[in-house]
Amino acid sequence: MDFAKFEASERKLNIKSFNFLNLIQDVQEICCGNLDQSAILFSLIIDDKVPEIIESDEMKVKQVLLNLLSNAVKFTSAGSIDMKVSLRQENDTEFIVVKVKDTGIGIKTEEMTRLFEAFTQADSSKTRAFGGTGLGLNIALTYADLLGGDISVTSELGEGSEFTFDFILKRNRE
Ligand SMILES: Nc1ncnc2c1ncn2[C@@H]1O[C@H](COP(=O)(O)OP(=O)(O)OP(=O)(O)O)[C@@H](O)[C@H]1O
Ligand SMILES: [Mg+2]
Repeated sequence: MDFAKFEASERKLNIKSFNFLNLIQDVQEICCGNLDQSAILFSLIIDDKVPEIIESDEMKVKQVLLNLLSNAVKFTSAGSIDMKVSLRQENDTEFIVVKVKDTGIGIKTEEMTRLFEAFTQADSSKTRAFGGTGLGLNIALTYADLLGGDISVTSELGEGSEFTFDFILKRNRE
């Protein structure tokens, strides 16, 4: 991907209403559609309070979820991937919170903050083993920030990782 082009064009928001539950299903299908035959169990839990229609930047929300879920699949060979979607209220602002938890290779503590830097992968041997550019999380964090949210991670080496993405919820007023 052309990084300079990304810099110029993708820092603007395009807010409109869209079906968030359909988006989650799309992302699940793309990333986990062929996990059935694998040693990975995928589960998705969506809190009843999460609205079907929301107002946000659909393409950016999708891009973040695609990267988090495809990372979980890429770095997990067996066990489970659990995705949880819920709401969080902070003062007058509502957030949608998406957690993606896996039982994959995990991340060393000293590498956790560097993951969000452009072109950074946890170590160079992994680059060879798993491919990718190391741009995914950097772009995801840029988008999360634009959406009024954040991405954080907790992980234990050899045990698994949990990424939490939140963004501001604007309800569709219809
Ligand atoms: N779920 C995860 N489990 C273990 N390590 C992870 C996980 N997600 C990310 N990482 C580590 O963080 C690094 C950066 O992730 P990022 O998504 O930015 O890049 P990538 O997946 O390697 O490449 P790209 O997303 O550009 O295809 C990964 O290379 C990997 O070392
Ligand atoms: Mg990635």
